[in-house]
Amino acid sequence: MVLFNSRLSLTSLPTPLEALPTLSRQLGVELWIKRDDLTSPAGGGNKVRKLEFLLADANSRKATAVITLGAVQSNHCRQTALLAAKLGHEAHLVLIGEEPIDRQGNLLLDTLSGATLHFGARTLEEGRAIAQQLMETLRACGKEPYLIPYGGSDPIGVQGYVAAWAELQEQAQARSLSFDCIVHASSSGGTQAGLLVGQQVYGGSGQVIGISVGPPATTLAREVAALAGQTAQAIGLDSFSLSSAPIILDQYIGPGYALLDETTYAAIRRLAQTEAILLDPVYTGKAFTGFLRLASEGRLGKRALFWHTGGAPALYSYADQLTSSQPAAA
Ligand SMILES: Cc1ncc(COP(=O)(O)O)c(C=O)c1O
Repeated sequence: MVLFNSRLSLTSLPTPLEALPTLSRQLGVELWIKRDDLTSPAGGGNKVRKLEFLLADANSRKATAVITLGAVQSNHCRQTALLAAKLGHEAHLVLIGEEPIDRQGNLLLDTLSGATLHFGARTLEEGRAIAQQLMETLRACGKEPYLIPYGGSDPIGVQGYVAAWAELQEQAQARSLSFDCIVHASSSGGTQAGLLVGQQVYGGSGQVIGISVGPPATTLAREVAALAGQTAQAIGLDSFSLSSAPIILDQYIGPGYALLDETTYAAIRRLAQTEAILLDPVYTGKAFTGFLRLASEGRLGKRALFWHTGGAPALYSYADQLTSSQPAAA
């Protein structure tokens, strides 16, 4: 039996499972999409599922303030700040990277949320140190701070994607579908870890393929496996072990994390122009580039799913590059 932690209801579930008819015709593979970009509050995206568990844990510990960290255009930070505000928590975001002159995209929404923004960290390690310092400062002020890790990826947050796998299985069974491959963007590894644990718990076929948007495949695969094991333990699956190493592909990163090339823009344009669905430049644009490539090479089997993890608010901070990029085949 699975012993989930307590959970808040912060979004409307299940998210839609939709066919991609035009792209399926073009590529000769039956393609579907799971719309976690439509988890409505706070601009949508995959982090809401994790935050349902993390913010429930914060509440149970009587937290009065929430701290988290991420890149300047972090979707995770944006969703955390807005949902923490909704629940009445003071929010602090440690944003890694240079403070931009313009507040655009996710950073604009962070500002709207009323969260306190902390700039100055150049690396994830520096960000973690600043977040720890903030914990102490807030405690010294009589507050009860709760630290949400990078990407919301710890054994509590990951439970959001264990439950998401069960949700997908119910939808697929109701429509007599099974998928040969399930492809999604992977970064801190929590989404993939949750899906892999869910697959072992609830069954259901399909290779789960994470497309890395930054870390090397071997590093990320190790992190996903570790997170999966810790999450399984947290929900009472003592004899859990993954049947094989997590599959991560790192050849679609392009010039680097959050750095884009024409291929990513082409993938973003292609989904917008065929199916009216928006991707983001940092995560799903790269993952979809991989999805298209694998489909066109016949490596996704007969029926495949792209798990859309959100991020479209970041599109607006790439307006200059997107409008000056040249149309090309994805
Ligand atoms: C839009 C989007 N997709 C995918 C991911 C990656 O998810 P995970 O960190 O769980 O690997 C993120 C993480 O920030 C994200 O913002």
